[in-house]
Amino acid sequence: MSVDILHVVGARPNFMKAAPVIRVLADTGFRQNLVHTGQHYDSRMSDIFFRELEIPEPDVNLGVGSGSHAQQTAQMMAGFEPVVLERDPGLVMVYGDVNSTVAAALVCAKLRVQVAHVEAGLRSRDRSMPEEINRLVTDQLSDLLFTPSQDANENLQREGANAAQIHLVGNVMIDTLVRLLPRALENKKTGFPERYALVTLHRPANVDDPEVLRGIMNSMHEVAKDLPVIFPIHPRTRLRIEEFAIATQGIQLCEPLSYLEFLALEAHATVVLTDSGGIQEETTFLGVRCLTLRENTERPVTVEVGTNILVGSSMERLREELANIVSGRPKKGSIPVLWDGCASQRIAEVLLRSLPIASIPAAAVVSG
Ligand code: UD1
Repeated sequence: MSVDILHVVGARPNFMKAAPVIRVLADTGFRQNLVHTGQHYDSRMSDIFFRELEIPEPDVNLGVGSGSHAQQTAQMMAGFEPVVLERDPGLVMVYGDVNSTVAAALVCAKLRVQVAHVEAGLRSRDRSMPEEINRLVTDQLSDLLFTPSQDANENLQREGANAAQIHLVGNVMIDTLVRLLPRALENKKTGFPERYALVTLHRPANVDDPEVLRGIMNSMHEVAKDLPVIFPIHPRTRLRIEEFAIATQGIQLCEPLSYLEFLALEAHATVVLTDSGGIQEETTFLGVRCLTLRENTERPVTVEVGTNILVGSSMERLREELANIVSGRPKKGSIPVLWDGCASQRIAEVLLRSLPIASIPAAAVVSG
């Protein structure tokens, strides 16, 4: 019997991870379906990514939207369960660490449907981060664990995962970057300064507390004395800045950017200041300096091998590292192994080896 694969996405960072997997699997005999939970619903947080990344229209949109973690996760589960019962997939693929990921994994575990987790095994060891809870639970419930780096394999083994479940395939987000970087650079918007700091900020720990957010924005004002600061602002952060009446003059705020717009800005940035997980990885691949405004990272390879430096909440550290970058003495980095644009092909190879498919067209033989 043939296996139908059902992919679940919901929030912005899922889209660039699912896109290359769906693309590679389209050339195999697997039938694919796509469910969007609706966790991100604004056109600039979702629709534009579907267009640019050429992801097929979702077959189902659960339309869940915003809410507390419990509400959002519960609504996704309630909406997703009938979809799984009706479509009866042989495998459900979930991505990353957002609420949509854990909600889908939980539904499948209860219905005894196989789950594959793409980007398994990453750990910040900080359980105050909602994403860390999502990672721990999703990995416990998944049958196949596709990891981006060796540290992830070690974390999973330490937590008791079976070696046969774990497949080190590399970083699927880099697959998307490799494919679309030329297009992003071709279409780069004009009118940006030659040298600039690019900022992204949305973690609850950084933006939900008025004092913490005020402190970070003060730091951004300091940075703006050395470099123009461009800040595409996440809806959550915009809301908080308005709510706490925090000053932003001197900083170039803009709407959330599309994938291609952001990638072009990121590739040419003098430095990126962020609390995002994915951007730590992208800057490492691009060789762009990244200062991460967090005390820990679930992506240690970006610090050990790449260009990432954790500055935490220390303004002093930020100032020091920024001075190194501005004066031309930045940390050098290299690209982690298997971050080569072929991670989704490796995933397809594992699936072709381990799952029954209806028919494999001759063109579908995937080579690494
Ligand atoms: C989620 C993920 C986070 C990921 C981030 C990328 C979880 C727990 N967190 O965080 O890991 O890095 O997405 O963006 O899943 N909002 C809008 N429009 C939207 C989406 C959100 O206005 O399209 C606003 C709403 O006010 C909402 C808030 O942003 O309440 C937070 O959205 P939510 O999806 O809950 O979490 P993120 O902070 O985006």
